[in-house]
Amino acid sequence: MTDVDRESVCNWRSAASDLTNKETTTVANELWISSPELQTPQSTTSNKLKSIMTPIHEAERTLRSTAEGPSSSVVQLNISLQHSAKMVTIPFYSSSVKLMLFTWMVVILLSPSTAAPIQITFDGCIPGFANNETQYCCPPKYNGTIVDFIPEKELNSSKPLRVRKALQCLSKKEQREYKAKLDKAYTILRNLPEDDPRSLHQHGILHCAYGTGALVQPGTNITIDIHFSWLFYPFHRWFVYFHERILQNILEDPEFSIHFWNWDNGATVRKPKSSHGGCYKVGHFLPQVYNDSSTAQYEAQRSYRAVMSDLPVDLSIIPEERADPPLRTADVALPRNVASMYVAMMLNGSTTRGFMGGEYRVGDTQVLDPLTRAGSLEVMGHASGHWWVGGPFGLVQTSALDPLFFAHHSNIDRLWNNWYNLPGGERKDYDDPDFLNAEYLFWDETATLRRVTVRDSLSIEALGYTYEKANDAYWINYVLPVNGTTNSTTNVTTSTKALEEVHFPMRWNKV
Ligand code: C2O
Repeated sequence: MTDVDRESVCNWRSAASDLTNKETTTVANELWISSPELQTPQSTTSNKLKSIMTPIHEAERTLRSTAEGPSSSVVQLNISLQHSAKMVTIPFYSSSVKLMLFTWMVVILLSPSTAAPIQITFDGCIPGFANNETQYCCPPKYNGTIVDFIPEKELNSSKPLRVRKALQCLSKKEQREYKAKLDKAYTILRNLPEDDPRSLHQHGILHCAYGTGALVQPGTNITIDIHFSWLFYPFHRWFVYFHERILQNILEDPEFSIHFWNWDNGATVRKPKSSHGGCYKVGHFLPQVYNDSSTAQYEAQRSYRAVMSDLPVDLSIIPEERADPPLRTADVALPRNVASMYVAMMLNGSTTRGFMGGEYRVGDTQVLDPLTRAGSLEVMGHASGHWWVGGPFGLVQTSALDPLFFAHHSNIDRLWNNWYNLPGGERKDYDDPDFLNAEYLFWDETATLRRVTVRDSLSIEALGYTYEKANDAYWINYVLPVNGTTNSTTNVTTSTKALEEVHFPMRWNKV
């Protein structure tokens, strides 16, 4: 942690902290009590983390310099660089050839750039490919008109915001009611005809189409993927949003909200006195309302890990482990989880490029390797959540068939929303028109196809909702100045071991 970072954390803490110093220390103590590995001087831990968890741009550099699996776009970049280098190093050519080459270069330089925002059409859909298999997931034929979508607040600015809450903090009564609503809604969604765009089946198909290269850029054979680039957060915000509208419609409850699985919070702390509400209970277990086998939101093929009631989620599963992640009990998983969150949100996620992922425009080939363009939280935390739960949820082609998908992505969405105000770094959305004007298509509650833009996704308030406050301080304050905590070498060693496994994925098959 640099001094600047440390200072901004401190400033942030004194100015806008969720927790008082004493309460912050409580968080740390709680964590340390349950996790002796963390009893290391924070600066050591931080340096260790910095060296272990390579920031994205460094990983990208490494990738470019190794022959081992650069993405096709990187290959293309290298080729074109070599190409232009050849062009300017041929002084012995005759002057007419030189003139031709010169004119050609001028024409190329002056011709308009092909950069344009990605737009989606379902026409020309082809079989996709993921996890070593061809995927058949083209959306059903649509004969209606595609209708541009206008955010709710532009239509009715006086409507109060709906609140998406932390699932673990619902009261007993709220839990019962929410569980019954989910059950009712998913019973209907599971029983709709498979070609009904609102059916759960078609939610799975849509995510598969957008995530396996089944959709192509209009008039080309360039396949599209909305993962691993700046398209990731906006796409999933819209996907959860339209899913929520469909559930509201089915339940005839316009206030229904997709509450979030607060998996990033690994500590229960006393609610800060200054807080007006908020959830300060541990959130890393699979939410109970999704874990009752007698309800339609239950998915029987989830892994045994996900249904063991005392096992926290593992947020630092590495790609090599994805097929069968090891059983990490709380003592091992917790320090790794908080480290992963800290790295994803505070360290690697401290810049627009680091958090949001890289640029992706018309003409760019499908992103297959996260190291080239994916944002920090997408690869750390998001992916592990999918792999830990397993079953359909663990594969890109089927993940949206598990209703838990929407509670998982509600949390990702919340973290994106909170990211702007975290201390340190440069945290704002891209202002590039190719980002803002990128478009997606989604089915709404009347099975009408709606066209939405990234621009319209950037404010959750404009979309009519907000999030209950939760204990983000748990990972924000992961790097704390330590007052007189001395540590034995044994602890340091144990800690090092545990953290060394939390490295940035080098090879990554898709969720
Ligand atoms: Cu489109 Cu969690 O993935």
